[in-house]
Amino acid sequence: MQEGRWLGEHNDCGQRVGRLDSHNILIGNPPIPVLPEKWNNTLQVLLDHRSSRHYRRDALPAGTVELLVAAAQSAPTSSNLQAWSVIAVKDAERKARLASLTDGNEHIRAAPLFLVWLADLSRLRQIARQQGNDGEGLDFHESFLIGAIDAALAAQNAVVAIDSLGLGSCYIGGMRNRPEDVARELKLPPEAFAVFGLTVGYPDPSVKTDVKPRLPQSVVLFREQYGEVRSEELASYDDAMKAFQEKQNLPPKGRTSVIAKRIENEAALKGRSQLTAILRRLGFRLK
Ligand SMILES: Cc1cc2nc3c(=O)[nH]c(=O)nc-3n(C[C@H](O)[C@H](O)[C@H](O)COP(=O)(O)O)c2cc1C
Repeated sequence: MQEGRWLGEHNDCGQRVGRLDSHNILIGNPPIPVLPEKWNNTLQVLLDHRSSRHYRRDALPAGTVELLVAAAQSAPTSSNLQAWSVIAVKDAERKARLASLTDGNEHIRAAPLFLVWLADLSRLRQIARQQGNDGEGLDFHESFLIGAIDAALAAQNAVVAIDSLGLGSCYIGGMRNRPEDVARELKLPPEAFAVFGLTVGYPDPSVKTDVKPRLPQSVVLFREQYGEVRSEELASYDDAMKAFQEKQNLPPKGRTSVIAKRIENEAALKGRSQLTAILRRLGFRLK
């Protein structure tokens, strides 16, 4: 392993392109302390990720959905159960209706493609019944969790593929604001739940994006056992976020204050505190 420095330019979408030399460290936000001897495009794509919320009007190339789903299906999956599905939505009116269920998120309308990722136990129930049992194992909370994990891993593989193609995307957790309305719109069977959506399109080059700072490794990486989270380290994150927000012409709010607000009380969950009851109504047994 050796140190290296990114020597590139930014492309039209503000994404880093280029290479590293072997003297300095600039990759990652916060920067990676030690870089591998050989940099590669996969690392570049992963570390250059940023959500895109503004898109060009252009349609996506033929085959894009199938390519993204192939990447998604290549993700690891618990016991090879593949407890997820995805619905590709292109119809403008359906996208608009889905956007209206998310409390904002106008980028759903603007994106040419909206992928809705499902934790899906319905197909597994069918397989179990075809094989002569009732799939009792699906009745437990563990199975719902498997579906949610599988959907997230699959979607994130698609996001990496999207980033590698120079396309842009943004997850939409707002799909969980009104899950029953979403289920009706998408005609979901019992035991299928829209975990999140994902807008996909060509990023609008006139809207600059940048790599958003993350917490310092000292508060997320522990060795052998859980350790102390020091408030000075959190303050350094707020400083990094302030600089980022100023650069993006956003209000310079401390990020930890925003995080704290998002988890302050039940009201902050915007109705999602009712999720257990809603999931049961959607057919999940959650024992
Ligand atoms: C599960 C999930 C749900 C999200 N929901 C939304 C959303 O509803 N609307 C939105 O604009 N961004 C949403 N995001 C995007 C996050 O805000 C974004 O990933 C985060 O701020 C980090 O920024 P970056 O992706 O540019 O690095 C979501 C991300 C994830 C992983």
